[in-house]
Amino acid sequence: MTPRENFGSRFAVVMAMAGSAVGLGNIWRFPYMVGEHGGAAFIILYALASFILVLPIFFAETIIGRRSRQGTFGAMEKLAPGSRWKWLGLLTVFAPIIILSYYSVVGGWSVEYLFKAVCLDFTNTPPEQVQGFFGAFISSTGGPIAVHTIFMLLVAGIVLAGVKKGIEGFTKVTMPVLFVLIVALAIYSVTLPGASEGVAYLVKPDFSKVDARAVAAAMGQAFFSLSLGVGTILTYASYMRKEENILASGIGTAVSDLLFAIIAGFAVMPAVFAAGIAPGAGPGLVFDTLPYIFNRMGADVPWLSAVIAIIFFVTILVAALTSAISMMEVGVAYLTEEKGMRRPTAVLIITVFAWAVGVLCSLSFGPLAEVKLLGNSIFDFLDKLCSNWLLPAGGLLFTLFVGWKMSRPDVYAEFTNDGTLKANVRIFDVIWFLIRYVAPVGIVVVFLTNLIL
Ligand code: TRP
Repeated sequence: MTPRENFGSRFAVVMAMAGSAVGLGNIWRFPYMVGEHGGAAFIILYALASFILVLPIFFAETIIGRRSRQGTFGAMEKLAPGSRWKWLGLLTVFAPIIILSYYSVVGGWSVEYLFKAVCLDFTNTPPEQVQGFFGAFISSTGGPIAVHTIFMLLVAGIVLAGVKKGIEGFTKVTMPVLFVLIVALAIYSVTLPGASEGVAYLVKPDFSKVDARAVAAAMGQAFFSLSLGVGTILTYASYMRKEENILASGIGTAVSDLLFAIIAGFAVMPAVFAAGIAPGAGPGLVFDTLPYIFNRMGADVPWLSAVIAIIFFVTILVAALTSAISMMEVGVAYLTEEKGMRRPTAVLIITVFAWAVGVLCSLSFGPLAEVKLLGNSIFDFLDKLCSNWLLPAGGLLFTLFVGWKMSRPDVYAEFTNDGTLKANVRIFDVIWFLIRYVAPVGIVVVFLTNLIL
């Protein structure tokens, strides 16, 4: 077997992890949630949820990954040999592949929209037609499958190139660029005439909207946004060198993710309000509302509108790619380490499987719309299964594993690099408490809230 690859530096670790974290969740989910749940009040709630509740889970996954230096299945086998924990390992091999399959469908849409932006479709078309783009496109058959295929091949290409050349190489270059682009878009957006209402939508704290639902939403969003619960962070952590700092990497990732989400909010919402449109939720916000805005802007300054449209969809595409590669790597680590496959074979198998499931998801917006699983379309069913159940379940089990199955000295040794990192030593008792009690209780509360609502 070839020796295990590693990320080359702390910067590389944080860029790879932030690449996984920063994705579609930040660009269309977060801005909408902020508006729904009390503006700045939600941002505060989200920051608290990220740092108190979700970061400990992040540490739990990183501790398991780096301690074992194995992918999620191997990690369980190594740290708890022969126990039932291997089922957690197996669950978390499959879950990211499922997420990848439907995430790639949406990634494909961003490929299509980038094509459209480049072909000046948003600027040279009558407004009514632009508004009909989205519904017509996703319910068709060939087009969405073609772009889903392109997206999947891009993901496969990067993962195939390996941890260092592929994942590290790609995220180290694209993540800083992504930050620059989103900041530029935000500056542009807030300076549009009529943008102030959109800014107010994001910054005016409305504490009357802070209820159990808002708290559960903040935790759920933080969870998904930091890519937790299904072993993606665990797998990346298994490529961290021993001298790397788990605390610093975790904080770096969470801060990047939070910053990006907030800036994305300022890139999207003020433009929406400036165009006089009610902010929609979910994919509609990005794929329905924004093209309409580009179209309206295009009436005045066509070249600028085209440039902004291209930048926007490049940003979305790259953000989706850096997340999707982290999902694929989980399965690749499993097949190469546990089944002794070569990397190309592993990538091929996962690509074909996730692609096929993705085709079904894509068709569930059109020809297969009538196929219902527990009352949901195939796409929605898989999304809900993962977001509402598998992620929190996986997160809960990972924290229980670190807090109650691993020994305290082992966790201490891993978190503090055998006691050599001063800040980590000082803060360890707090982290240990958060991992053992606060995080598990928090997840169960989110679970129950979602169940009741
Ligand atoms: N965090 C990414 C986003 O915000 C999505 C993502 C990547 C993810 N890997 C994950 C979500 C693993 C859950 C689990 O879009």
